Amino acid sequence: MYTGSDNKSSLFFMISCDIQLLLGLILYFTGMWFEKVKSGMGAVMKDPTDRFFAVEHAMMMIIAWLLVHVGRSMVKRAGTDAQKHKRTLIYFGLALILILAMIPWPFRQPGIARQFFPQF
Ligand code: HEM
Repeated sequence: MYTGSDNKSSLFFMISCDIQLLLGLILYFTGMWFEKVKSGMGAVMKDPTDRFFAVEHAMMMIIAWLLVHVGRSMVKRAGTDAQKHKRTLIYFGLALILILAMIPWPFRQPGIARQFFPQF
């Protein structure tokens, strides 16, 4: 059975990803990251922190966001309820793995690591 709550929680996940994408794009284009890309990809790719935020984090998170959107439309088109659950698991599961892998956790290498509670 694929219930209204299943659909609502999937919608909640998609909206959270949309908000996160918007925040990420704002950080990307208002911060120094896009400036760095414009002044030369060679230097960006040589620096692990610059490469992480300007390329790896942004690209992988956009792929995760795409998976969530494609996933929701695949779930809508699924014929049976079992198929809806299976597609949710596959698309959202892959997106979640990508998101968890690309978060700059506090235990990542210095430069990339961000604290849970930043000091202002
Ligand atoms: C599901 C999607 C995403 C998640 C969960 C996520 C998560 C995060 C987290 C936890 C940080 C660290 C924030 C801090 O404490 O300083 C961060 C930083 C950042 N994110 Fe994302 N992000 C996502 C998508 C994106 C996208 C799509 C982009 C760009 C197109 C992006 C660009 C950035 C940039 C540039 C920073 C560095 C901020 C800085 O320190 O200057 N993010 N992200």
